Amino acid sequence: MSEPILTVDGMSASIGGQQVVESVTFEVPSTGITAVLGRNGVGKTSTLRGILGLIKRQGRVTLAGDRIDHEPTHKIVRRGIGYVPEDREVFASLTVAENFALAERQAAPRREFVAELFPDLVARSKQMAGTLSGGQQQMVSVARALLNDNRLLLVDEPTKGLAPRIVGEVADALEEASHTVPMLLVEQNLEVVRRLATDAIVIDSGRVVHRGDAKELLDDAALTKRLLGVHGEAPAGEAHA
Ligand SMILES: Nc1ncnc2c1ncn2[C@@H]1O[C@H](COP(=O)(O)OP(=O)(O)OP(=O)(O)O)[C@@H](O)[C@H]1O
Ligand SMILES: [Mg+2]
Repeated sequence: MSEPILTVDGMSASIGGQQVVESVTFEVPSTGITAVLGRNGVGKTSTLRGILGLIKRQGRVTLAGDRIDHEPTHKIVRRGIGYVPEDREVFASLTVAENFALAERQAAPRREFVAELFPDLVARSKQMAGTLSGGQQQMVSVARALLNDNRLLLVDEPTKGLAPRIVGEVADALEEASHTVPMLLVEQNLEVVRRLATDAIVIDSGRVVHRGDAKELLDDAALTKRLLGVHGEAPAGEAHA
């Protein structure tokens, strides 16, 4: 087992003086997708924002062995953590190409890789991002993070609110991208988790209440139901390879 790309050790975080993440400890392996699961409002987004230093946090966080918990966000981002926020923020009144250009922070952005992954967006490069479908906007949001050579991506609920067919397309893109960069992925759609995630952590009331193999968790219907209030079995006839 190689060194984890990210370690989070006893991280707490607060918003406006109110603690929303309480001493969470987990690791993100250097390959594959680690899912962050949990009911609404338990602190999943806040965990990502704490790692990025977007909200006040305490505790120890390392990226590839280097401590980042005292660094400002711009330094952490420059070390190579890409963020795809919840609710896919794109520049609605700019074109797809302009959205991409504004995201490029390296001398040699990975334009070919992104073009291969999202041919549909290349075809729409002159279209205003605000006129794209929700799924296409999500692809723009993911593509922007992939243009840079990141060591880790933090991706927050990329399939939220998308039509079922589009969920599969976004999952395809994330799966392909995960072969080049490890991800910490907040995802409520357990079919997507089953398909993509190698590892999983479950958060409840700001604390990590479970860590382990993602499929083992989802295969344990009683545990999944207890932790998430839903069951994780793949529905019959909906296997999406
Ligand atoms: N800007 C804010 N101001 C005050 N409280 C906030 C703010 N953002 C989040 N919180 C609170 O912090 C807690 C954790 O929220 P967070 O968004 O991290 O949860 P989440 O697990 O991502 O939820 P969701 O599933 O709805 O995305 C919640 O109780 C929420 O009300
Ligand atoms: Mg959230």
